[in-house]
Amino acid sequence: MQIAIDGPASAGKSTIAKLIAKNLNFVYCDTGAMYRAVTLLAKNHKIDYGDVSGILDLMNKHSIKFLNTDKGQDVLLDDVNVSNEIRSEVITNNVSQVSAIKEVREQLVEMQRKLANDANIVMDGRDIGTTVLPDAEVKIFLIASVKVRAERRYKENVERGINTSLKILEDEIEARDYKDSHRKISPLKKAEDAIEVDTSDMSIEQVVNKVSEIVNSKK
Ligand code: C5P
Repeated sequence: MQIAIDGPASAGKSTIAKLIAKNLNFVYCDTGAMYRAVTLLAKNHKIDYGDVSGILDLMNKHSIKFLNTDKGQDVLLDDVNVSNEIRSEVITNNVSQVSAIKEVREQLVEMQRKLANDANIVMDGRDIGTTVLPDAEVKIFLIASVKVRAERRYKENVERGINTSLKILEDEIEARDYKDSHRKISPLKKAEDAIEVDTSDMSIEQVVNKVSEIVNSKK
């Protein structure tokens, strides 16, 4: 079975996808982490985020691996665990430029489809229902207001000891959504057959219950 969870930045996709995968004992795949890992590779090697051949060359020369763990998914760059580093501000604010590159998407989508062929999977991202797994049995499009998403991100940051302004977070989320939904290839878009869930006024538990209901109705 394939469960696709798409939606804009910070809508809670990974949190929900991880819990659903755990409950069902499915493999979890965070495709955003893949685009983030490639962005980190470019940053580490001082390659411009728009330098297509430079980035493709790095992807050929370095290994990026994804491991399922109890907590979700670990990302290894040349066997070094970079799961925290890929969440940094600089990666978050530049990943949309790298993810807009056609050849980067082609390589990562191939990896994503392979993973989905090998196991029951819950995959989250922006184009899973529209492009990566168009035949997924369950397609969810998670949304929440920009204000709520920025507030959630703000709380997460405070817990991690990072101090950012709520207004800056709102602006960054809006800018990333704009870039992700206006790129030429596989833009962020609700698949026609996806079920939209607005999580603005819902707790994590309520969202998990709602998504589980949808999954059960498709079994
Ligand atoms: O989900 P997350 O916020 O970690 O995704 C980071 C970025 O990766 C997105 O803003 C988007 O640019 C890119 N992405 C994508 N397609 C996906 C998943 C993520 O283009 N399927």
